[in-house]
Amino acid sequence: MTNNKIYFIANWKMFGDLKSVNNLNKIVNLSKQKTFKNSEIVYCPPFTILSDFVKKLSNSKIYVGAQDCYSINGDGPHTGNISANQLKKIGARFVILGHSEKRLDGDTNKIINKKIKSALSENLNVILCVGETLKEKRRNLTTRVVNNQLKQCLNKNINFNKIIIAYEPVWSIGTGVIPNLKDIHKQIIKIKDFIKKKYKFKNIRVLYGGSVNLKNVIDLKKIGNLDGFLIGGASQNINKFIDIVKKTIN
Ligand code: PGA
Repeated sequence: MTNNKIYFIANWKMFGDLKSVNNLNKIVNLSKQKTFKNSEIVYCPPFTILSDFVKKLSNSKIYVGAQDCYSINGDGPHTGNISANQLKKIGARFVILGHSEKRLDGDTNKIINKKIKSALSENLNVILCVGETLKEKRRNLTTRVVNNQLKQCLNKNINFNKIIIAYEPVWSIGTGVIPNLKDIHKQIIKIKDFIKKKYKFKNIRVLYGGSVNLKNVIDLKKIGNLDGFLIGGASQNINKFIDIVKKTIN
């Protein structure tokens, strides 16, 4: 891991209900410990319980984020959508954008770019997901695909201090299979170099996501340039998630 802040983003996807809120006490206690001071936990539950999470975590060091926002900001006739402004108003501080499961639903790089601008206009922190499919990996297209996603989703004049990139190989999400450590390390370097060269921003934070669990985190934490993890399945169980955090920071 880097010597900078280490991020643990819990992506709950379409799981969780009000009962989940009661389990958060344990993680609040963890966040008060000394060893935690260089880390940041962000919970991204579904929209339906975002407010409850914000209330529960308001006196803690743990932040709350959403899993998406609409591309147009402000009130309007957009049935079924939630704006960045609405997220901001209820106390969310982060938003995950460009997740491969949303890309499957139809989010293109162009739409994601609009969503990012919308989120940044409300001063939300953006976790931008990028990554290649298995087919693309087999054709050696990983770097090309990822760079293209970065190029199309981001712009020169955005505030890169509010952006965190999550490198998530699509074939690794929810499958239990992760790339070898060298490949992750190389890809993280490539993303950091790309942002430095193209946007003249030196300190972009890059996370790894895809099947992070209690076992593989022991190896993953050895990757020197990594700023943290985006954790799906394993973040929904409070004890597992706490153990992953502890194993990484201790
Ligand atoms: P996973 O999900 O940890 O369950 O693979 C990661 C993600 O989708 O962000």
